[in-house]
Amino acid sequence: MEFLYEGKAKRVFKGENENEVVIFYKDDATAFNNLKKGTIENKGIVNSKITEILYGYLEKAGIKTHLLKVIDERTHLCQRVSIIPLEVIVRNIMAGSGSKRLGIEEGSPLNSPIIEICYKKDELNDPLINDYHAISLGLATREDLDEIYRETLKINELLQEFFKKCNLTLVDFKIEFGKNSKGEIILADEISPDTCRLWDMSTGQKMDKDRFRRDLGNVEEAYLAVLQRVTKEGDQC
Ligand code: TMP
Ligand code: ASP
Repeated sequence: MEFLYEGKAKRVFKGENENEVVIFYKDDATAFNNLKKGTIENKGIVNSKITEILYGYLEKAGIKTHLLKVIDERTHLCQRVSIIPLEVIVRNIMAGSGSKRLGIEEGSPLNSPIIEICYKKDELNDPLINDYHAISLGLATREDLDEIYRETLKINELLQEFFKKCNLTLVDFKIEFGKNSKGEIILADEISPDTCRLWDMSTGQKMDKDRFRRDLGNVEEAYLAVLQRVTKEGDQC
């Protein structure tokens, strides 16, 4: 397969068809824009499976995603998209950089979800921007942003509902969108404990990449527990 691109957590290859790519999920883990590096054993397998289940659930609810087919336990066949260079973050509860930036204690409830957009540019640490930047810099049009926000809020509702049934609180998450060959904006990349903050609803325990970022231990165990709960819930919907 012809290699196209390597990111921090995935490798992308050309598919047989020019409108398709093959995405391989690695075990590599990074945080703070590559300052902290490590491996989370079997993360690629766990995250690709969680993404597959969540994307299947979202598709059933009418959300378009790039996932076409599962090739093997670490590899997905996906629509080739041109990624809109925005990291779209949703916060339901204050945590992480949101808490730090605004001086609001982690775990503080919010009156309504906050959507943030960050310009995807590693050299600049993916800076937080607003709609005016995105439009003026030509990263997205007003119409693109309206659609992205509409889809994002729907995805948030659906994921919150799903994770609640897994006894997990969806604190916040990051998603990315791309444009396919038909010009449709579809959900791309992954949804996993790498890209979501998930807290156990009974104990408050962190079950996501913060265990790696903050050296909390039991990283693999937390990812596996999320996979088990998501698999169980996925089987029922
Ligand atoms: P933050 O609080 O560090 O801004 O993160 C918000 C959410 O976005 C959190 O669920 C983790 C996720 N995230 C990513 O998926 N990739 C990233 O590069 C960053 C910074 C955050
Ligand atoms: N994904 C980012 C990195 O690789 C940041 C993070 O997830 O904390 O550094």
